[in-house]
Amino acid sequence: MCGIVGYIGEENATGIIIEGLKKLEYRGYDSSGIALCTKENKLLVRKKKGRIANLEKMIKGEDLTANLGIGHTRWATHGAPSDVNAHPHTDMSGKIAVVHNGIIENFMELKKELTEKHGVEFKSETDTEVVANLIGVCYEEEKDLEAAVYKALKRVRGSYGLGVVCADEPDKLVAARKDSPLIIGLGKRGNFIASDIPAVLKYCRQIYLLENNEMAVIKENDVKIYDADHKEVQREVFNVTWDADAAEKEGYEHFMLKEIHEQPDGIRDTLVRRMDDDGEIVLDGINLTKEDIENFDKVYIVACGTAYHAGLIGKYAIEKLAKISVEVDVASEFRYRDPFIDDKTLFIAISQSGETLDTLAALREAKKKGARVLSVVNVVGSSVARESDDVFYTWAGPEIAVASTKAYTTQLVCMYMIGLYMGRKKGIVSDETYRKYIDELMAVPEKVSKILDQEEKIADIAKKLYTKNGVFYIGRGIDSAVSYEGSLKLKEISYINSFAIAAGELKHGTIALIEQGTLVIAIATQDKLFEKMLSNIKEVKARGAFVMAVAKEGNTAIEEESNEVIYIPQCMDEITPLLSIVPLQLFAYYVARNRGCDIDKPKNLAKSVTVE
Ligand code: AGP
Repeated sequence: MCGIVGYIGEENATGIIIEGLKKLEYRGYDSSGIALCTKENKLLVRKKKGRIANLEKMIKGEDLTANLGIGHTRWATHGAPSDVNAHPHTDMSGKIAVVHNGIIENFMELKKELTEKHGVEFKSETDTEVVANLIGVCYEEEKDLEAAVYKALKRVRGSYGLGVVCADEPDKLVAARKDSPLIIGLGKRGNFIASDIPAVLKYCRQIYLLENNEMAVIKENDVKIYDADHKEVQREVFNVTWDADAAEKEGYEHFMLKEIHEQPDGIRDTLVRRMDDDGEIVLDGINLTKEDIENFDKVYIVACGTAYHAGLIGKYAIEKLAKISVEVDVASEFRYRDPFIDDKTLFIAISQSGETLDTLAALREAKKKGARVLSVVNVVGSSVARESDDVFYTWAGPEIAVASTKAYTTQLVCMYMIGLYMGRKKGIVSDETYRKYIDELMAVPEKVSKILDQEEKIADIAKKLYTKNGVFYIGRGIDSAVSYEGSLKLKEISYINSFAIAAGELKHGTIALIEQGTLVIAIATQDKLFEKMLSNIKEVKARGAFVMAVAKEGNTAIEEESNEVIYIPQCMDEITPLLSIVPLQLFAYYVARNRGCDIDKPKNLAKSVTVE
């Protein structure tokens, strides 16, 4: 959610930092700001509530020339969105400026001490201003920024990605991280810090990933990284291979639409890169042996939002293929119910960003209890990935839109592959079943493309239905899990109140809400449950519902019961979620577009939720 960019080098820092911050806008924010250290030892701070455009307007015409600076996009945690709460924050002397991602847990106690002992008068409600002043007090004692940051961080509890500058030391930028991502970019005409790689990709492809409890001193031509004991550590350079263009819209009106259309490639990549010449699954980066797999007596899948919905499908796939009991939990609840976990548990964390704090906290809890941790993650080198025993990367590419689409379908591919891999290792998936799954999965990208060809038809349906106020998504079996994701897509980008429920559960209460004109979206792709779904559709139709159905090609009986039908290509029942979600994503997109919503950055939402 919050974003950090910093620069020190030959160029003017202002433009570089603002440009970098814009690359992080997709993470969601409510204010932005910049602090610059001039050669004349002046610290200039400018910050503004709202979009980065507001900040740009504010500084337009000002001479803000400096070779060192830090910038931030803030998503409010301590204190409301406002100019004064925006980062950077300065210490009382006005010499030191800090940008911070994360939460300082002991900020109240530190604030009290700084107020009572050092006479600090705070301007904002933020925990970050406490850090700035703590560093300021340490700077008074140490007369050296590096030493001051090191000393101050010894007193801080919580999570942070930090960028610190000091007017008296305009030759360096100090950075630190704990439980909040921070990278150092190595450029030709200077060096960078950033919370996310896209912010600096225009200038550098070589980066250092800062580890937990490390700090770094970054100069124009030099970078030094130190561990928690302030001993210098050597870090391998990480070469970013993905293209900066991959993070741009490429002609689509919104990132979400572009990412919906990237699904055939993402699914193909996730699949093909794990397949050897004989069509056997090779899970790179995963060291689960036959013995390990046979030792597991249960699997927990834990995630949030869309990733959690992928986990629901994972349950079907892994239980069926690997014959092992799977529990799926939302990460924010997992820790609070004392789950029964031991060394016979395989814990699977699913996360696009790899930075979702709830998922990370659940992972740590599971690890503490002895579970083997396998994560399914999209962002390479993210916290979830780094803290897992084994990582299964999705190959979705950078997902910018807040609404997750291609991450979901690639996560589903991973679920099937994990199920097949485990079942195969246990010797319970026959060659025939295995081949059938692989053939069906390999055909998915082509079938998704066919669904995407129906975009115009889906856009037309959305045009007729976008004014609906309440929408129900229903399905049976694996379709009910897809209905949750379809409903989430609609509500998060169109702000329509929508609700998903297992179709058979309707009659136990929820059907009372169906009235004349209520939109019901019925996912009816399961051959074995098709008749039952038709009955459910009849039930809601009898009460006046307008029904839009998603069904497999050929199951035309559904046309008699529904007002609109979108067909997906024929495939085995078990893998329909990879297809049936696509029309639901497009439908949500076009409904939101018709309603004039800010599709890529819906209100109140952030791409990566790094607070509990
Ligand atoms: C889905 O469209 C949302 N962006 C949200 O539910 C998301 O899936 C959730 O916050 C989890 O994020 P993660 O995959 O990055 O962990």
